[in-house]
Amino acid sequence: MRRHTGPDDWWEANRAMWDERVALHTVSDFYDQDGFRRARDVLRDFEVAEVGDVTGRSLLHLQCHFGQDTLSWAHRGAARVVGLDFSEPAIDTARELAAELGYGPDRAAFVAADVYDAAEAVPDTAYDIVYTGIGALNWLPDLERWADTAACLVAPGGFLYLAEFHPLCDALDDETGSRLVHDYFSREAWVDETPGTYTDFGAPTVHNRSVEWQHPLGEVVSALAGAGLRIDFLHEHDMTMFQRFAALRRDDDGYRRFPGDRSRVPLMYSLKASRTR
Ligand SMILES: C[S@@+](CC[C@H](N)C(=O)[O-])C[C@H]1O[C@@H](n2cnc3c(N)ncnc32)[C@H](O)[C@@H]1O
Repeated sequence: MRRHTGPDDWWEANRAMWDERVALHTVSDFYDQDGFRRARDVLRDFEVAEVGDVTGRSLLHLQCHFGQDTLSWAHRGAARVVGLDFSEPAIDTARELAAELGYGPDRAAFVAADVYDAAEAVPDTAYDIVYTGIGALNWLPDLERWADTAACLVAPGGFLYLAEFHPLCDALDDETGSRLVHDYFSREAWVDETPGTYTDFGAPTVHNRSVEWQHPLGEVVSALAGAGLRIDFLHEHDMTMFQRFAALRRDDDGYRRFPGDRSRVPLMYSLKASRTR
């Protein structure tokens, strides 16, 4: 089993950092809340294609932030969505957004809890779909515990779907994304104190300490298989949602990719893992 190290205050530091960022994110162009209220759907096309029809199904979103992705699945027909996040301001905002869009708590519920406590915190014993990712796993030190928690919330015949940034990116240089400058297998926590946030790098923030971990692809897959799920697919993608490396180009579809004359590395991945028994 991989043991990750990190400072004792990781949980409190991360929660304070995320709590402070909620208000900045809700007014940002990046999350464009007014646009979301109109379009009601911010899911990425590959997620929609890979998850398939959610009509009439129940869906649990782990680490839901303030619920845009969660509510997008409701808009796409999920009968019941539940979002969980450890940030109370994020959950308060998600509940307000759900109410504004006309979803009552039976259709869209939001729960403030640590992801590792999800089984005790969420209202139902299991869900047809457990959905997570897009900047979620890096906040967790113990992936086996995460996988056990998530897997026990997948209903028989249901599945977990994860879309994440590829861990190889964390080992490459920020400029070109072609030179190996960090250890892909590092178990050390990455502690950062940079103010601001990804929606506003210049925002004056107070709670800046954050603690993250790298999780190699094999660790993620093995944790889910070890938790009793069957891996249906693991897709590695040549595109991402951010300017992760200066060398990336923005294509007409809005995704960033390496220029056509460059050798590529995977920038994101997605996987589906089913409960067959
Ligand atoms: C980058 S956001 C995920 C975002 C989501 N895909 C989006 O863009 O809206 C990461 C989320 O994980 C939550 N989080 C981090 N650590 C957590 C933990 N231990 N338990 C529950 N939520 C956690 C944060 O509060 C934050 O909302």
